[in-house]
Amino acid sequence: MSETLELNTAMEVPKIALKGVKKAFGPKVVLDGVDLEIKRGESVVIIGGSGTGKSVLLKSILGILTPDSGTIQIDGEDTTHIGGRDRERALAKFGMLFQGAALFDSLPVWENVAFGLIQGHGVGRKEARERAIATLGAVGLTPDVANLSPSELSGGMQKRVGLARAICTNPEIIFFDEPTTGLDPIMADVINDLIVKCVKDLGATALSITHDMASARKIADRIAMLYKGKLIWVGPVSQIDNSGNPYVDQFIHGRAEGPIQMQIKAF
Ligand SMILES: Nc1ncnc2c1ncn2[C@@H]1O[C@H](COP(=O)(O)OP(=O)(O)O)[C@@H](O)[C@H]1O
Ligand SMILES: [Mg+2]
Repeated sequence: MSETLELNTAMEVPKIALKGVKKAFGPKVVLDGVDLEIKRGESVVIIGGSGTGKSVLLKSILGILTPDSGTIQIDGEDTTHIGGRDRERALAKFGMLFQGAALFDSLPVWENVAFGLIQGHGVGRKEARERAIATLGAVGLTPDVANLSPSELSGGMQKRVGLARAICTNPEIIFFDEPTTGLDPIMADVINDLIVKCVKDLGATALSITHDMASARKIADRIAMLYKGKLIWVGPVSQIDNSGNPYVDQFIHGRAEGPIQMQIKAF
């Protein structure tokens, strides 16, 4: 690689950059100065206990919540306070797999998958249906599923439909919120493999949040741990077992004893 090329790579604008992001709800400080840069094509997984603010962080990047202070940049553009058409343009880059898949039971499976194509990208219904069925195939579902209601599917199949919806528009960035929660370990592994494959096939940048370490190990290039509103450790997945951080150690081994004190009501 020539020196100029190396310099360009080093100076490449991050796909997503968070600087000093803070968010409180009333007196409850949830995010207390989060800094994170995610490179194009990278897969970052944020780990942390329930209620530590992982979903709040994703929602802040999407603009569903507005930070109290700090900045969020996407492709170098400050999106912290944008709205209207600018927000729509920014959101068109994203695919999202919501916690619990969050499918619309009133719509057939194919329309759930095609939702972003029709609503966000102005694709006609006929073409959208064809693309939805092709995307269902990519996540291992046959065309006969297309006309079913999501409520007729098993949990694993609903996750696949959610994943198909997240990737159907060929997004540049995909967010996964607890993609394996509620699945048995084998189905969770199937979904993890699908996530890795879909992200790689799309060349997408991925940000996932989970408390499932098997999932984090499988889908992450880098792992960041959120604790008390801050990212207390960020590093390559290969170093997670040698982080030298007692909070990370306690979390990845699921120990009750350690610096992380669970808030348990005393009776
Ligand atoms: N819209 C909201 N209004 C008030 N409190 C909220 C809101 N969203 C999240 N919270 C609080 O922020 C904290 C973090 O929530 P969340 O990000 O959902 O946690 P998790 O890490 O499990 O995803 C929780 O205490 C939650 O009650
Ligand atoms: Mg959450």
